Amino acid sequence: MTEAQPLFSPLPDRSAEPPAPGNLVRSLRNNVIGIFPPEAYEEDVVFRRVFGRQQIIMSHGAGIQHVLVDNWQNYRRTAAGIRILRPLLGKGLLLSQGEDWRRQRRTLAPAFAPRTMPILARHVARAAAAAVINLKTAGAGAAPVDLLAAMQFLALEIAGTSMFSLEMDRHGAELRGLISDYATRLGRPNLLDFLLPVWFPSPRDLLRWGFRRRWLDLIRRLIAARHAQGSTGAPRDLFDLMASAADPDSGALFPPARLADEVATMIVAGHETTAVALFWSLYLLAGAPEIQDALAAEVEGFDLGPDSAATSLSGLVYTRAVVQEALRLYPPAFTLARLAIKDDIAGDVPIKANTVVLIAPWVLHRHRRRWAHPEVFDPWRFLPDAPPPDRFAYLPFGIGPRVCIGAQFAMTEAVLVLATLIQNFRIERADNTPVTVRAVVTTQPDHRPPFLLYPRRDR
Ligand code: HEM
Repeated sequence: MTEAQPLFSPLPDRSAEPPAPGNLVRSLRNNVIGIFPPEAYEEDVVFRRVFGRQQIIMSHGAGIQHVLVDNWQNYRRTAAGIRILRPLLGKGLLLSQGEDWRRQRRTLAPAFAPRTMPILARHVARAAAAAVINLKTAGAGAAPVDLLAAMQFLALEIAGTSMFSLEMDRHGAELRGLISDYATRLGRPNLLDFLLPVWFPSPRDLLRWGFRRRWLDLIRRLIAARHAQGSTGAPRDLFDLMASAADPDSGALFPPARLADEVATMIVAGHETTAVALFWSLYLLAGAPEIQDALAAEVEGFDLGPDSAATSLSGLVYTRAVVQEALRLYPPAFTLARLAIKDDIAGDVPIKANTVVLIAPWVLHRHRRRWAHPEVFDPWRFLPDAPPPDRFAYLPFGIGPRVCIGAQFAMTEAVLVLATLIQNFRIERADNTPVTVRAVVTTQPDHRPPFLLYPRRDR
């Protein structure tokens, strides 16, 4: 599937034309995919200047390894990413740096280890079963269904219940309201987000910090309600796992303010990414009936109820391959942006301090030198008998020390939900309007295409 990777030599003619500032700002606000020039899908490295700063689109395996794995400490998150996410995530894992990050990561890792997946799979299975009931009602009589909205609702429900079990009954609507308010208003970047240094607040930052007060108030109320219930001994959900997580060196638990930021981080980082992964999986299956039939044949005999979901998971090989292929074609995290701290050389590529390095799963996963027929939806690429993809050409969850801590959970969730939906429904598009990508924070569709859901016989 992958082709031999030619060695990189930094030739001047590989520099792309800088994008016109107006177009660039429009792209950054409405669809970041527009900032990748056509040559990015052919070349290992593209250099250009953006807002007066050197930018490198890095698709060179050795260069990616250097930036994300070998010398990752020389690369930090960019100011725009930090100022947009900080009001939601505070000092939680995703935005932390240095020793503070290392301690948090070490403390949280056991909560996301494979042995905790059965606890989480139980919550996923319950929420997926409830979604089937809702979708049967919504899609009855061939009524068109908005599967993007359905997957966003379901993924937030799973993020909430796997974190807080029952408290979602009381607080789910408020949680959904706040997150969607932020995503549609204050979470959208504007020009100042890219131009101002992170310590200099823009007018929009002041509004964002107003939002943070309301957001933290909700998270604290959820945590207080939980403490009021007392402990049951065995962990029930992610909150129990995270609240009892101790630093392996000092034995210290997270102080309350930090625990609130970690809880917020997991809810925010986990739900929209998984929602769009599910949406694109269903969209691709609706356009490939023979692949959907193969998936339906695989899932037919599995018990996906709360008691069996975790054990069924390992048998869902084709379903997993479909999710992996959907994550290739539509990676929810379409680009990883880093700012170089000091001058460096990454796999032959000279990188000056303050250069923005973009390692873009969107580009890598559709790179013409890395994949055969990159535009084609073909889950075979990820089946056990296919050659494994190039390690640095497939990065839906990133790679290196800052790889997604929730990757196992996300795969557990996406595979179980997809299997449950296809066990119950045959899914078709209700119209033929072309669906394109609109990537701002995650890789969304440009509109909400309607789908038809036909219940499968005997279900
Ligand atoms: C399909 C779903 C998901 C995708 C595609 C995804 C993707 C990613 C990627 C690419 C990164 C690395 C970012 C970088 O290096 O700049 C990341 C980091 C992270 N993800 Fe996920 N993620 C998903 C689901 C989840 C879930 C379910 C959780 C938690 C419950 C989660 C929590 C995090 C956290 C906390 C980080 C930061 C890790 C660190 O900096 O140490 N993600 N994710």
